[in-house]
Amino acid sequence: MTGFLFVAKDLPSSWWICAGLVVAFLIFHTFTVPSHLRHLPRVPIFPLLISYLSGEVEDVRIKRLILPYANERGEGLVLVWALGRWMIHILDYKLAAQMSDNMNLFPKELPPDGLLLWRFIGGSNVLMANGDKWRKHSRVIRDAFGLPIPVDLFTSLAKNLFAVISPPSSPSDSHTVDFSELAQRFALDAVGSSVLGHDFDAIRTESLFVREYNGIMHDIANPIYLIAPWLERIVPRKEVVNRMDSLVDKFKQLLQAKKDEPGDDMMTLMLKDPEMSDEELRDNMVVLFIAGHDTSAGGLSTLIYFLATHPEIQEAAREEVLRVLGPTADPSVGTLSATSLPYLNACIREALRINTPISYIVPRAPINGVTLGKYYIPPNTSLIYNIYAVHHNDSVWGDPKAFRPARFLEKGTPRAAMVKDAWVPFATGPRQCPARNFALYEQRALAVMLLREYEWSLPENSIHKNGLRNAFSPFALTLPHDLHITFTKKKH
Ligand code: HEM
Ligand SMILES: *[C@@H]1O[C@H](CO)[C@@H](O)[C@H](O)[C@H]1NC(C)=O
Ligand SMILES: *[C@@H]1O[C@H](CO)[C@@H](O)[C@H](O)[C@H]1NC(C)=O
Repeated sequence: MTGFLFVAKDLPSSWWICAGLVVAFLIFHTFTVPSHLRHLPRVPIFPLLISYLSGEVEDVRIKRLILPYANERGEGLVLVWALGRWMIHILDYKLAAQMSDNMNLFPKELPPDGLLLWRFIGGSNVLMANGDKWRKHSRVIRDAFGLPIPVDLFTSLAKNLFAVISPPSSPSDSHTVDFSELAQRFALDAVGSSVLGHDFDAIRTESLFVREYNGIMHDIANPIYLIAPWLERIVPRKEVVNRMDSLVDKFKQLLQAKKDEPGDDMMTLMLKDPEMSDEELRDNMVVLFIAGHDTSAGGLSTLIYFLATHPEIQEAAREEVLRVLGPTADPSVGTLSATSLPYLNACIREALRINTPISYIVPRAPINGVTLGKYYIPPNTSLIYNIYAVHHNDSVWGDPKAFRPARFLEKGTPRAAMVKDAWVPFATGPRQCPARNFALYEQRALAVMLLREYEWSLPENSIHKNGLRNAFSPFALTLPHDLHITFTKKKH
């Protein structure tokens, strides 16, 4: 430190002038709106900057800065500065549908160079590919999701979870557990066994695979490298890259094991497709692993939270479940359908609306200039479908902050039609989530099992007493964290 001061003091003043100019240029460069985007309404930059620097979570930033700005001006899309990049956020579901329906005009943007997440996911998979490549991946994945919904698996995993929430050896009826963590383990086992064809046994054991994955995701999210992905080339993180490559290798081994020992899982089906190379299958495996568990876990945690804070809604859902399924019968595809359990389904839809697991999707970038609403969008501009904002639009929902499942039970009114189109947790258009049905069954299955086994509430000292709090996520995931819940076994 003193060495540095000594050197700095001795520098000639021309050096300081140069350094000053460079810093001024960098500041000017990062904060100046490029001329081709200046016609767009733009959220004030300094509150955004402070929000990023203070580590504010995405959903709070959207509610506090982006939505109020757009509402005041009646704008359906706004320009948002995000750590040195300018992006257009689409906040109106009609404009978003226009973009989502046309994937030729609005392909997914190539990810920024260097960001380790893209090295992890790989390039040739259903999530990032465009055009004919995407069509090939999508066909294979959609065929796989055409397999019967594994309701029996969800049911037996729920029973595994009971044994962790209230161990049979424990004399007590009441147990407080970190449900956000258990939900992640449940969702991982669900996607592991049915989609990837590998039993992580994550509910009952501490899976090494999972620990490595969580560690890598934590390192990928290092704020310094997120702000400046090009640093990855200048100061490469060899150790992280090695760990990542070795995990990707493990996916390759799972794939090989699957070839030798086929099952009735989706991966076995995908392996039979002659058009898929091993590398493509591996990349899709990583995507399914990532896309398939945090999202579902977030949805489940949110649901359990809102049922805990609304005991009358929890009781109404339980009453429906007991009426339809009775106290002990294992659920089936029929008894678990949305029409069979309309009230529980409405609760799940409301949870996915109010705390949307994927708050916004991978940016699209139009190849040619296009018009969206009243604005011209130049080619190569990042367009983000801000699902969270659509789910919190006052004029669509009336009371967006309230957890009110009944809004999904309204029929035949103009509001009901709007609600149907503006509920988009799985996005819309051809690139919407291929696992939508799978995920909704998974949510209903666990909810049914929990409602019959327990009653639950928030413990007195919960950090969520004054509203649900989400973890910080650089990848637009909105997931509750440290959600401790007190489960009390029901008397049969
Ligand atoms: C509640 C749970 C879930 C939610 C809210 C959700 C939401 C979404 C959304 C919003 C997209 C569009 C992303 C984009 O275009 O950038 C998407 C895509 C995708 N999701 Fe899900 N998802 C869920 C569960 C799952 C599960 C369980 C799986 C797999 C096991 C899965 C696999 C995928 C895949 C492969 C894509 C890419 C589709 C494509 O680009 O064609 N998702 N999901
Ligand atoms: C909210 O929804 C209405 C109806 O679709 C739309 O006109 C308005 O632009 C939306 N608000 C925002 C901020 O997108
Ligand atoms: C858009 O970006 C691509 C790749 O960065 C580039 O090749 C192309 O020339 C750009 N198009 C326009 C119109 O700027």
